[in-house]
Amino acid sequence: MADSPAAHAAVQYAGTDRRLAARIVLHQRYSTNRQGWFDWLAERLPLSGDVLEVGAGTGALWAYAGTAALGSLTLVDFSAAMAARLAGVPGGRVVRGDATRLPFAPASFDTVIANHMLYHLDDPAAGLREFARVLRPGGRLAVTTNGAGHLRELDALGPAIGRPDLRLEGRLANFTAESAPALVGAVFTGVAAQRYPDDLRVPVVEPVLAYLESLADTPLTTAERAAATALVRARIDATGTFQIGKHSVLVTATA
Ligand SMILES: C[S@@+](CC[C@H](N)C(=O)[O-])C[C@H]1O[C@@H](n2cnc3c(N)ncnc32)[C@H](O)[C@@H]1O
Repeated sequence: MADSPAAHAAVQYAGTDRRLAARIVLHQRYSTNRQGWFDWLAERLPLSGDVLEVGAGTGALWAYAGTAALGSLTLVDFSAAMAARLAGVPGGRVVRGDATRLPFAPASFDTVIANHMLYHLDDPAAGLREFARVLRPGGRLAVTTNGAGHLRELDALGPAIGRPDLRLEGRLANFTAESAPALVGAVFTGVAAQRYPDDLRVPVVEPVLAYLESLADTPLTTAERAAATALVRARIDATGTFQIGKHSVLVTATA
């Protein structure tokens, strides 16, 4: 039977928000799209009535998405560290809980948001069925994920320094931009997908290394760190920047 939260998600997030924070910083500082991801997403979210965000992390979205017009805002995360951060979101009710066993009655919400979280479930379809259960009829779903080529250049660094465990690709494989519309469509109607146009151009080594280290369950050795630094620095010296492709999508649907 699938674990929920998945074992790898527990290692990544249960005790700290620092790994996620390091990753958000790379995107926020070095995106070529002048409209940052959270702002782009906030503009497209069906925000009305009673809103639930599952796997809300640090709550970064709510610095961009207005809450004044909402009936209510409920923020769920299984992680104690994330729940502590979420307590700082104005007007949000924070509930520690699991995406596949939400502690809410059926038909409790008008909108469910799951931003870059369904790929953390061993069984994303179980999460989608649970979201459908807590949505009112006609309620709106908004989920995001990544697709082919996402962070390809960053993903190549782990194997190149003898640390294939740092690869992102395998971790995200069960809910991708390519598979999400069909998985969502099995439970919801009116599925639509939009891609966020962006890539990253990073002119310094450190934030790339910080991202790589955020993926490591076993810390990088001094030699591995030096090898990764040399690879990134060589690219920056040659081209002025470490360029990283992105592929992120928003998928919306109706219950
Ligand atoms: C990649 S982070 C995204 C956080 C936030 N949505 C954002 O975009 O910044 C994934 C989040 O999902 C949470 N998460 C993972 N598995 C979960 C589960 N089974 N139930 C609830 N939350 C979960 C993690 O603790 C983490 O905060």
